[in-house]
Amino acid sequence: MVIVYESKTGFTKRYAEMLAAKTGLKVFRVKEISKISPDEEIIFLGWMKVGKIQDLDKLRKFNVKAVCGSGTGRTAEPDTETVIARNKIEGMPFFYLRGGCLPLKEIKGMDRIMLSLFVKMLKSRKDKDERTEEAIAIIENGFDGVKEENLADVLEWINAKRAEGCV
Ligand SMILES: Cc1cc2nc3c(=O)[nH]c(=O)nc-3n(C[C@H](O)[C@H](O)[C@H](O)COP(=O)(O)O)c2cc1C
Repeated sequence: MVIVYESKTGFTKRYAEMLAAKTGLKVFRVKEISKISPDEEIIFLGWMKVGKIQDLDKLRKFNVKAVCGSGTGRTAEPDTETVIARNKIEGMPFFYLRGGCLPLKEIKGMDRIMLSLFVKMLKSRKDKDERTEEAIAIIENGFDGVKEENLADVLEWINAKRAEGCV
């Protein structure tokens, strides 16, 4: 088994490298996919944009066994079931990893425009709950939620597969 990841601002990359260090599995970026045999089992990590796990579609013909999505919410947004359906990964282990984001002013291009509109929409809400206030602060000021302990479920899954002699 190998680790493949896609990361735009580096948070998912940190998780991929942490996972590689803890398991000894090799780690590749999606652009290096040609180095991997189509039979090789893959655990994929990708950052999420509007609930879509980026670049997962580039691995459809590969042997992906589990998927991790990294986002800024406390839990997968809008919710785990929607993320699974939107990414067509029904029946596959899915792990949500809380990543992080750069302050809005450091984000460029279309991503910045999308996030600016999103913050505007959140700010316009009349009754802002704690999670809405948190989301606004995270996008405007940046946030780093990468923690080794967030990989616990993924490591458990890898170890269980190893115990079965599959990895
Ligand atoms: C345009 C845009 C849309 C995003 N949409 C979501 C989302 O739907 N859900 C979420 O949890 N995070 C969302 N995020 C946040 C990123 O997924 C999160 O910051 C991720 O950890 C970044 O990973 P990276 O540093 O590896 O690129 C979005 C970020 C951007 C720029």
